[in-house]
Amino acid sequence: MTAPEKQAQTILIAGGTGMIGKHLAEKWRAAGHRVKVLTRRPSDPAGGLYYWNAGRGEIDADAAADVTVLVNLAGAGIADKRWSDDRKKVLIDSRVRTTEFLWKTFWLSPTLKHYISASGINCYGYSGGERLHPETDGFGADTLSQIVLKWERAADLFAEKCPVAKVRTATVLEKGAGALKALAKPVKLGFGAPLGSGAQFMPWIHMADLVDIYDHILTHRLDGTYNANAGNVSNRELTKEIARALHRPLWLPKVPAGLLRLLLGEMSEMLLLSVKADNTFIRSTGYDFRFSSVRSALEDMYK
Ligand SMILES: NC(=O)c1ccc[n+]([C@@H]2O[C@H](COP(=O)([O-])OP(=O)(O)OC[C@H]3O[C@@H](n4cnc5c(N)ncnc54)[C@H](OP(=O)(O)O)[C@@H]3O)[C@@H](O)[C@H]2O)c1
Repeated sequence: MTAPEKQAQTILIAGGTGMIGKHLAEKWRAAGHRVKVLTRRPSDPAGGLYYWNAGRGEIDADAAADVTVLVNLAGAGIADKRWSDDRKKVLIDSRVRTTEFLWKTFWLSPTLKHYISASGINCYGYSGGERLHPETDGFGADTLSQIVLKWERAADLFAEKCPVAKVRTATVLEKGAGALKALAKPVKLGFGAPLGSGAQFMPWIHMADLVDIYDHILTHRLDGTYNANAGNVSNRELTKEIARALHRPLWLPKVPAGLLRLLLGEMSEMLLLSVKADNTFIRSTGYDFRFSSVRSALEDMYK
């Protein structure tokens, strides 16, 4: 591992207006870095926002100037809509085409020295929760795994120029946002219940740890592919812990798997099938998780 980089960087975050990007921009600005954010909204340089539209091949010229670290979080929401064929194309294009466009924009950059890409931890296939997948395991054949495969291959374009780090992100727990917002809502209303059998595992991480992992990768200029998960939790356990943190009772019947399949189609596999991932590799680089149990993470959020 390289010595920590002390110099202030000019960091460009593509898709930096979202749930994760907002925290990264705040942290890095507070640390003295210059942060610019790429968005499909109009440019607002005073607010650090710069317009781009990868589909149209457009980018505000000021966005690319002096960038030393490029962080790419852009991508249409995986769980926002049912996975029709058209939607799958949007999920892939918003990751792969955007990355390819960034490569076209930056391959001749005289300043770029690090590329950090978001990636997904649901890439190993659904193995029934028997195996704790290290990063060296192959990709699954399911839709999500194949999206991640294409996304990471596109990110590897940058390896010709600079170190490339890929952050295989687990379900991020943050109060009032993303998955936790969706999971906590029925619990708050008094009808929280495990999904399907409730025995299926998912990798998870506290937002504070994910932000610190990005910072750790930036500071040590790491390359490689990292599972970013504090642990793996069963749906039953997570639902129970959310109810405990919110001081709400749990509704005993489970939400039938068949109903979820009917409502969500193929996307339901993300909720009903098991994946477990191993975080040894990121820990071996010196990263220590602040929240390694779901209980401590939820207590921190709902304190
Ligand atoms: N949050 C999680 O639990 C989680 C878990 C695993 C992986 N990840 C991945 O990590 C990345 C960041 O996650 P996040 O939770 O911060 O996502 P988010 O809140 O949905 O933000 C993603 C950003 O991507 C941009 N975007 C959306 N659709 C786009 C499109 N069609 N073309 C170009 N840009 C588009 C948007 O920026 P503008 O609208 O400003 O252009 C948006 O702010 C995503 O790629 C996500 O798949 C997240």
